[in-house]
Amino acid sequence: MHKLSAALIALLFFISCGTKKEEQKDLAQSEEKWWKEAIIYQIYPRSFKDSDGDGIGDLKGIIQELDYIKDLGVTAVWLNPIYSSPNDDNGYDVSDYRNIMSDFGTMEDFDRLMKGMHERGIKLIMDVVVNHSSDEHEWFQQSRSSRDNPYRDYYHWWPAEKGKPNYRYSLFDEKGDAWKYDSITDAYYLHYFSQKQPDLNWENPKVRQEVYDIMTFWAEKGVDGFRLDAFQFAAKDTTFPAFPDDLQTNFIQYYAMQGNLHEYLKEMHEQVFSKYDVMSVAEGAGRNFEDAHNLVDADRNELNMAYAFEGVDIAKREGYSLTHFKEVFSRWDKEFAEKGWLSIYLANHDQARMVSRFGNDSPAFRRPSAKMLNTFILSMRGTPYCYFGDELGMTNSNFETIEEYQDIAAINGYKKVVNEGGDIMEYMQNLKFGSRDYGRTPMQWDNSTNANFATGTPWLPVNENYKTINVESEKKDPNSVLNHFRRMVELRKNNPVLVYGAYTLLQPEHQEIYAYTRSWKGEKMLVVLNFSEKNSSITLKEAKSIKEEVINNLQSPDIKNGTIHLLPYQAVIFSIQ
Ligand code: NOJ
Repeated sequence: MHKLSAALIALLFFISCGTKKEEQKDLAQSEEKWWKEAIIYQIYPRSFKDSDGDGIGDLKGIIQELDYIKDLGVTAVWLNPIYSSPNDDNGYDVSDYRNIMSDFGTMEDFDRLMKGMHERGIKLIMDVVVNHSSDEHEWFQQSRSSRDNPYRDYYHWWPAEKGKPNYRYSLFDEKGDAWKYDSITDAYYLHYFSQKQPDLNWENPKVRQEVYDIMTFWAEKGVDGFRLDAFQFAAKDTTFPAFPDDLQTNFIQYYAMQGNLHEYLKEMHEQVFSKYDVMSVAEGAGRNFEDAHNLVDADRNELNMAYAFEGVDIAKREGYSLTHFKEVFSRWDKEFAEKGWLSIYLANHDQARMVSRFGNDSPAFRRPSAKMLNTFILSMRGTPYCYFGDELGMTNSNFETIEEYQDIAAINGYKKVVNEGGDIMEYMQNLKFGSRDYGRTPMQWDNSTNANFATGTPWLPVNENYKTINVESEKKDPNSVLNHFRRMVELRKNNPVLVYGAYTLLQPEHQEIYAYTRSWKGEKMLVVLNFSEKNSSITLKEAKSIKEEVINNLQSPDIKNGTIHLLPYQAVIFSIQ
């Protein structure tokens, strides 16, 4: 008897410790912040809506569609760069950080746009492109004009009399060489991206102050956050030592997170982020988890979140498997379960379309698979970033020749393969699947000419499928991808468990179905997603404690004896006990 009660007490103690541990885990990420709860809609302004008939999207166009954006239910918009730019890389080459690109409109348009967003409860996140500027920026014009110009040290120069500097790889250069010789001062300058995107010298305190002043200018205007473009590459060892041969082109592993990057971010935090209620997100999460934590853990006073590339990089290609996909997303979630915060996304302006890469864009499966992917993004932990057009299930276009592509990465990549005598067929094949241009084709508003994106000729052709895939027709159809997206957004907004809840992967080895639970403060949800074009089923103990189905992209699934039977690309969320 005595023994029994001791065993009982021990058992109760064990259970209560277990529960406490679970609860603590549940609560670990519960410090509530608006940017954790945000649902971010990314707009590529060039492709969203043209108001003046020049074929290029603009700020007035976005203003015209503010009610559409509000009706999506999203709470924030991230705008790709809208600053003055010669557009070598569509705005990622800034020539004046305090002005609006003439193609896009004026500062008055910007003010109206921000006001219109704020009136609708939508926050505005700006892109900050300061690893590099345009070569047409006044700073660079000065810098290249003479070796003793006060702006000389705003960029990285290497005097030619010292010989050619050690090799550095350039992502967009047709020779892959990041050093460009400039005869004006007989020196080389550094450009990790195109020749028209010279890298700024972050080791120069004047450069850093310029950037903080620019950010302050926009924060004072009232913007709500900043996305730091390519920032993990900003700091450099300015002695430019030789890299080992095998690492010369290993961009993330060898070029990211160098030197004093964290000091610069702390300085930026002190000078800008700490003074305003703004969120901050870095493109890139470093080389490993330690780097990522150092960027985003709250006690570091650097950034709020980062976005990692690993998940988005494993799109359905050779070697792709759902188990790998699950493993990657689960690993990242686990690493940040108790500290730090991340973003969740499957597409942006640097990727081809989500449904073509991760789903199935054939007529039979486009709709369910697009809805399934939106269900995934909006039910995972981390701040979701939804790329414009994915709420409609927009797909990749079909360009045949290199002349049809506009992206500098595609064009210079082509020249590089030609220069090196590489396999051009294979290169074109890869572009067809993954070109950034496919993610940039214009928004499909209705079935009239040019999908009503523009009255003039669009800068990039509208996808031919706009007659069927467009906002107007999807609005009317209760079962459209668009209406499912809106329901899913509402579900996330009304259920903090989907924002903060602990994530548990179920049956990692299942080849077709991705299933997980989210739990927080006694609430629990079960998410089951069929990532395949076949009927599939999964047996889960959680299926026995289903309370109700909260969202479904097809009809209600059959559930018998703990087995859930799903149709191809079916996505269901249940609340469970
Ligand atoms: C990352 C941006 O997302 C991409 O579009 C751009 O080309 C490079 N950084 C260079 O700014």
